[in-house]
Amino acid sequence: MSTIINDIEIIKAESSKINEVDFDNLTFGSVFSDHMLVCDYKEGKWQAPKIMPYQPITLDPSAKIFHYGQSVFEGMKAYKDVDQNVWLFRPLDNFKRLNISSKRLSIPELPEAYFMEGLKALLELDKDWIPTNDGSSLYIRPFVFASGQGFHASPADEYKFIICTAPSGSYFSGDVKVLIEETYSRSANGGVGFAKAGGNYAGQFYPTQLAKAKGYHQVIWTDDNTHEYIEEAGAMNIFVRINDTLITAPTSDRILDGITRKSIIELAESEGIDVEVKKITVTEVVEAAKNGTLKEMFGAGTAAVVSPISAFGYKGTDYELPKLNDTYASFLKKRITDIQTNKTEDPFGWRFKV
Ligand code: PLP
Ligand code: COI
Repeated sequence: MSTIINDIEIIKAESSKINEVDFDNLTFGSVFSDHMLVCDYKEGKWQAPKIMPYQPITLDPSAKIFHYGQSVFEGMKAYKDVDQNVWLFRPLDNFKRLNISSKRLSIPELPEAYFMEGLKALLELDKDWIPTNDGSSLYIRPFVFASGQGFHASPADEYKFIICTAPSGSYFSGDVKVLIEETYSRSANGGVGFAKAGGNYAGQFYPTQLAKAKGYHQVIWTDDNTHEYIEEAGAMNIFVRINDTLITAPTSDRILDGITRKSIIELAESEGIDVEVKKITVTEVVEAAKNGTLKEMFGAGTAAVVSPISAFGYKGTDYELPKLNDTYASFLKKRITDIQTNKTEDPFGWRFKV
């Protein structure tokens, strides 16, 4: 049986898988809720979205996603408060960034209503899947890819926009040890580094595997030209605290303009923390680690939230970060998650009620 609400056709799953899920032991992004949203681009326009039971999709082997990697995605989270209200965090920023990414990959941009109304309808249907345990949330993965056919190396004429959701726990299981990269590059000037393009992640896997074999969890990417400037990590933007100043690199066409990053900057400034957005050299960070002025490093991202970095490796040496009691990371993590989960006032207007 299907119903149509706000132009969205909804076909409900015959039964729910929710009782098969252990909500007390969730990992990140490995179980999926009952429904997904699918929207097709064909004949030069986005067709009305459909919500249907979560299921595999069929593609022609010549679909251009397989050959030319036209794919972009977003990462968001839904939270439920004690009164069972459902909240998103700055969802329009994700929508805008998805279209910024799409434009760079010659993918047609989505209408806002299909993204926002589609997402709201999907969350309404699957709201029981939003975990309420501390640190857990419903991770939301909107993505767009080329489903159109043909080996000609040119943009496809058909695309799919899909939103899947996954009740998830923490992205990292503990503190994170990172390797500052000296050889490989994630992105280059004029490239696609600022876009949330699938290929940016594929290109990171091999260097990250090499780092993992040496005991690190993530690579911190440096600029492709000199490898002297810290840019961002594989799945998060990076903050460094030297003495009492919090520093993060400016965004550029090589760095993802993280929504958590910009929220952390605003939050920290509003709390009177001295924040500098400036280029950070690896030498500066190594020197600060040696002379004891490097107090903290942490990553910030939707999946990673605020993840403290316990040590970094560079040119064969490991540098441990001090174990402080009151860290900017823990303070800012609590501030941002309290806003996200409606435990506190939101003076910034970031929280969005579904
Ligand atoms: N940088 C990269 C490469 C990412 O994959 C992410 C995750 O989305 C981020 C930064 C953080 O961005 P956001 O805070 O918008 O999730
Ligand atoms: C996110 O934080 O939402 C991301 O997309 C990062 C991803 C690599 C899990």
